[in-house]
Amino acid sequence: MNVRQPIVLGIAGSPRRHGNSDRLLDAALAGARETGALTATLIASDAGLKPCLGCGACSLTGDCIQFDRGPTVYEAIESADAIIVASPVYFASVPAGMKALYDRMQPYWARTHVLMQPRPPRRPGAILLARGGGDPYGFEGAEATTRSVLAVLGVDVLGVLHATDVDAPGELEHHPGLSADARALGAAVAAEALLRIGAA
Ligand SMILES: Cc1cc2nc3c(=O)[nH]c(=O)nc-3n(C[C@H](O)[C@H](O)[C@H](O)COP(=O)(O)O)c2cc1C
Repeated sequence: MNVRQPIVLGIAGSPRRHGNSDRLLDAALAGARETGALTATLIASDAGLKPCLGCGACSLTGDCIQFDRGPTVYEAIESADAIIVASPVYFASVPAGMKALYDRMQPYWARTHVLMQPRPPRRPGAILLARGGGDPYGFEGAEATTRSVLAVLGVDVLGVLHATDVDAPGELEHHPGLSADARALGAAVAAEALLRIGAA
């Protein structure tokens, strides 16, 4: 039986640090560590990713031709045993840096759907979203976009948390139950990752 510690990767979608979605992610990753996982955080807005060109090169080779820090990002994604995504809602979707990262996951789609390469083992994950409120569009757009990417990455979403009516950084602390929920969700994701590693 394999007893290595699972790696839980947190992907932070907000361009501002220590805001509401970062706090949810911090709590989830703390829960994952308490359950025995190693954790890492990838900050989408700092990842230095150029946008997807839609050039189709990845459908021929399985790899992206953009010359940037993509290889580091792909390595972090591929070495993760579980992925937890945290993002604010920006105009019913996710911030631009996060969307660039999402679009750059197209090589994974091309590998399995065009090049018919074998799918890597499925892994557990979770989605944590924060929004200010005050518009009628809710979490639906951001959540659907995120679920679409996680499906391509072979992630089984174990849970989704919505923090609404949080705008200024730190307003999440007005809803202390949410951090506890994020911690519990992170722990559940890590426990599932541990199980899957053991079963592999
Ligand atoms: C450019 C921009 C667009 C936003 N769009 C929305 C929106 O469509 N719906 C919403 O409820 N909140 C919207 N917000 C508010 C953020 O979702 C809210 O401030 C959130 O708590 C930010 O999370 P963070 O602290 O993790 O950055 C927007 C904020 C910005 C800066």
